[in-house]
Amino acid sequence: MTDTDIKKGLAGVVVDYTAVSKVNPDTNSLLYRGYPVHELAATQPFEAVAYLLWHGELPTDEQLAELRATERRNRALHPDVKAAIDILPTSAHPMDEVRTAVSVIGAQDTAGIANVMDAVGTPEENLERSLRLFAQLPAIVAYGQRRRRGLELVEPRDDLDYAANFLWQTFGEDADPVVIDAFNRSMILYAEHSFNASTFTARVITSTLSDLYSAVVGAIGALKGPLHGGANEAVLHIFEEIGTADNVVPWLDAALAEKRKIMGFGHRVYKRGDSRVPTMKAALDTLVTHFDRPDVAELYDTLESEFVERKGIYPNLDYPSGPAYDLIGFDVLTFTPLFVAARITGWTAHIMEQQASNALIRPLSEYNGPDERHISGYVPDTAVLDVAERPEEAAG
Ligand SMILES: CC(C)(COP(=O)(O)OP(=O)(O)OC[C@H]1O[C@@H](n2cnc3c(N)ncnc32)[C@H](O)[C@@H]1OP(=O)(O)O)[C@@H](O)C(=O)NCCC(=O)NCCS
Repeated sequence: MTDTDIKKGLAGVVVDYTAVSKVNPDTNSLLYRGYPVHELAATQPFEAVAYLLWHGELPTDEQLAELRATERRNRALHPDVKAAIDILPTSAHPMDEVRTAVSVIGAQDTAGIANVMDAVGTPEENLERSLRLFAQLPAIVAYGQRRRRGLELVEPRDDLDYAANFLWQTFGEDADPVVIDAFNRSMILYAEHSFNASTFTARVITSTLSDLYSAVVGAIGALKGPLHGGANEAVLHIFEEIGTADNVVPWLDAALAEKRKIMGFGHRVYKRGDSRVPTMKAALDTLVTHFDRPDVAELYDTLESEFVERKGIYPNLDYPSGPAYDLIGFDVLTFTPLFVAARITGWTAHIMEQQASNALIRPLSEYNGPDERHISGYVPDTAVLDVAERPEEAAG
């Protein structure tokens, strides 16, 4: 085996089929179940996109109404889930909070299932579990931000759709339609992206016949890392470091001299630009106008053009979404949990797809550790020796 046989990071390896989404770096396009994501973001509520990812088709009016009704019924957090969040220190990372809350919901939901083979659930049960997490994550994420600000949980409102209610539960006031629209678009853009690290993690866990909640908890852990979900937080930190547009050039000179990775730029798959960026940038522009913050747009544009000119590496979705979430009023620490609330739809669609056509995911490795060696003075019982080392086998 040579170095080129080893696909470090699984780069370029195609591990399975998926009908959930198609990323095409050559045409810079992203399709959810065949639909371009920018068309979905321009025309659909996030609930309809969730339905599409789970069922393969956009909902009829009736199907959407039914999904919305179920989503509304499932929004409220069980007191024990809230209590589990409350025992965590407010200084805990919000992704740890979200991961814990999902784990508690999973343990409550699968309680009483004695046989581990039954925990995997039927397709119908897994659809219900997916919807439950989809409906409850806004409360978990919103409460996380409020708790860190010393505020109480805001109960959900039955008269609001998903995006408007999410903002209501976070800020405790009615959001402007411009803000709701930008937020809805961001949720759609973050919903799904084929075999990214967290989705693949969810599929690996599912492939062992573990349950949907365990797969989601694992996916949350993968998403926490700054090379994946954590990048939108990091973009804001960079913006804070730079300050204003006229500081971009000296800041970038120093950062590149130190060989720093500039968060929000680059992508494992897209090498000529992330297909989701133009839609999110347009949403950011509406927020810049709404909140009258041209300084944000100026910093954004200057850093982008300087970095692209020097490195030929383009922004990814985290680049426009970070400042957009900041303008909406989300704390930087809440950004990656927002990603969870969106990506729960894609993760669960993949989990169900994996369950429907499962094969245990178990790659091989090439050993490059020390040659075989032995503990000095240890005389093994022949029963524990490798077959080839047993005296009688060797004799035979
Ligand atoms: C996303 C990312 C991990 C993709 O990585 P990848 O496909 O494995 O590409 P690599 O990390 O191997 O980068 C290839 C080259 O481009 C450079 N590069 C890639 N992204 C860069 C960035 N954001 N800033 C500076 N240099 C970057 C690397 O340093 C490397 O240069 P080298 O060949 O001189 O060593 C990478 O671009 C990155 O770390 N981006 C910042 C984090 C981020 O925004 N993540 C969100 C992804 S949606």
